[in-house]
Amino acid sequence: MDQSNKAGATRRTNQQAAQRGYFRFSCDGNILQVLPCSEVDVALRSLYQPPMQRCLTLTFARNSRLLLRNKFASAHCQQSAAMSGLLISQPKYSWLKELGLSEDNPGVYNGSWGGSGEVITSYCPANNEPIARVTQATMAEYEETVQKTKEAWKMWADIPAPKRGEIVRQIGDALRKKINVLGSLVSLEMGKIYVEGVGEVQEYVDVCDYAVGLSRMIGGPMLPSERPGHALIEQWNPVGLVGIITAFNFPVAVYGWNNAIALTCGNVCLWKGAPTTPLTSVAVSKIVAEVLERNNLPGAICSMTCGGADIGSAMAKDERVDLVSFTGSTNVGKMVAMTVQDRFGRKLLELGGNNAIIVFEDADLNLVVPASVFAAVGTAGQRCTTTRRLMLHESVHDTVVERVAKAYKQVRIGDPWDPTTLYGPLHTKQAVDQYLAAIEQAKQQGGTVVYGGKVMDRPGNYVEPTIITGLAHDAPIVHTETFVPILYVLKFKTEEEAFAWNNEVQQGLSSSIFTKDMGRVFRWLGPKGSDCGIVNVNIPTSGAEIGGAFGGEKHTGGGRESGSDSWKQYMRRSTCTINYSKDLPLAQGIKFE
Ligand code: UN1
Repeated sequence: MDQSNKAGATRRTNQQAAQRGYFRFSCDGNILQVLPCSEVDVALRSLYQPPMQRCLTLTFARNSRLLLRNKFASAHCQQSAAMSGLLISQPKYSWLKELGLSEDNPGVYNGSWGGSGEVITSYCPANNEPIARVTQATMAEYEETVQKTKEAWKMWADIPAPKRGEIVRQIGDALRKKINVLGSLVSLEMGKIYVEGVGEVQEYVDVCDYAVGLSRMIGGPMLPSERPGHALIEQWNPVGLVGIITAFNFPVAVYGWNNAIALTCGNVCLWKGAPTTPLTSVAVSKIVAEVLERNNLPGAICSMTCGGADIGSAMAKDERVDLVSFTGSTNVGKMVAMTVQDRFGRKLLELGGNNAIIVFEDADLNLVVPASVFAAVGTAGQRCTTTRRLMLHESVHDTVVERVAKAYKQVRIGDPWDPTTLYGPLHTKQAVDQYLAAIEQAKQQGGTVVYGGKVMDRPGNYVEPTIITGLAHDAPIVHTETFVPILYVLKFKTEEEAFAWNNEVQQGLSSSIFTKDMGRVFRWLGPKGSDCGIVNVNIPTSGAEIGGAFGGEKHTGGGRESGSDSWKQYMRRSTCTINYSKDLPLAQGIKFE
């Protein structure tokens, strides 16, 4: 398409979109350009798209949500580290009340709200100011919640799957209504930029849509029996109670993947979110609870017990928790897995990644540069799918390092809620310490910091996105997943070497190559190619869609969530043989007479 045709097409798309209530604007350049506009909500699904398709979807808010965002943005700017009191009690943050939050929030839901355990304060990573408090579950409240959740299962499992799908559809709709305000809370509490906060609520909405379709499609095959007058069929049943333990970095989406699919399959859920994002857990549970209660269903179908390691390990040990779905670090995941295995329970693990992008000599560098920046810098390096290793063919190494470093300079660092910001703070102060320690180790192991490397002099947990070159592919720090925005650049000579380096780390989550060579693409997808659960070509390692099965191999834990046939992880399979004849033939032709 030539330029004028393209402009015409864009204009037509914008006009059509306007009639449907939203506008699309095309953007130029490697770094996303956020267009100034009034009365808009940014509903951006993915920050970096291939340049030809790169665009921003801006949704016109009927209720002028921008006013809310402007208030928030200016509030962030005006906050001083010295300010005391909770953010929620300031008029500027009164929008949090739209989510049903208050200064003190009950951290237990099992049909009714409660919580009398430890009171924890949630802090905003952008300025380390306290937002509000949550009262966690005691062990007695955990016990009571498990009992109520098990009780609720008895009626939920009897509801036909398409009817369960209807409830999940309503949950998706309820989330749609609150998507901007919930995305704002994610941004405030987790620290990711606003569009990414909204984006992860969108993932929950999307997986609800997926689950509605699934609710009419769950099925097992009827297989040919070798015996006359016999039917051999597979029946899938819900496992029962799914315990869902999620991490701080995706405080909505990961619960959503599990919740929507588990519910559709006929399970009930008990959720423990990260102790540092409890307000998001409470806000999500309120949205879901309202749907259940409106439908006269027991709220305990989607229970929540906020807490720390005590609640997590109780779930791992508890024989009544039929599946433990755990997302988090490999170290904690291993403990959970061993505990669950000890009782021969089911587990679904989404653990660490040490993801690589491999750039071959024939790669389109106009894709490589924005893809690498998005995957390494996006969410301030705190996705399990973040690119941590950038392997460059020796012929393009210097050019790519130079171009990526130049792009890093353009990354707008700031308040996560400012619509122009691309890069916010780390979630906690401890992460800042881990960042500094990793840079020190990288230097000791022969690395050179070519970009960044310092903590930023501003309130909040800000560090510079960092690029380190010159390390050996098997340097210990390169093989360590540090959950911060440090990118290790490695130089390689051959495809064989690059594929081997991709696979030599313990983790096996996500991986990408950039090439135009079709033979190489299929070698990469094949048995001697990437050993990861997510294997990409010409796109970044992060930003997976919900339609595929999400998860990874080896120390990533082997679980699969979200789309494709991940639903099978939430169900148990029975092989059923039914004799409808008057004879009793035995399999394998055995005569037992
Ligand atoms: C995670 O980091 O735990 O593929 C999940 C992605 C997101 C999900 C990441 N859709 O980057």
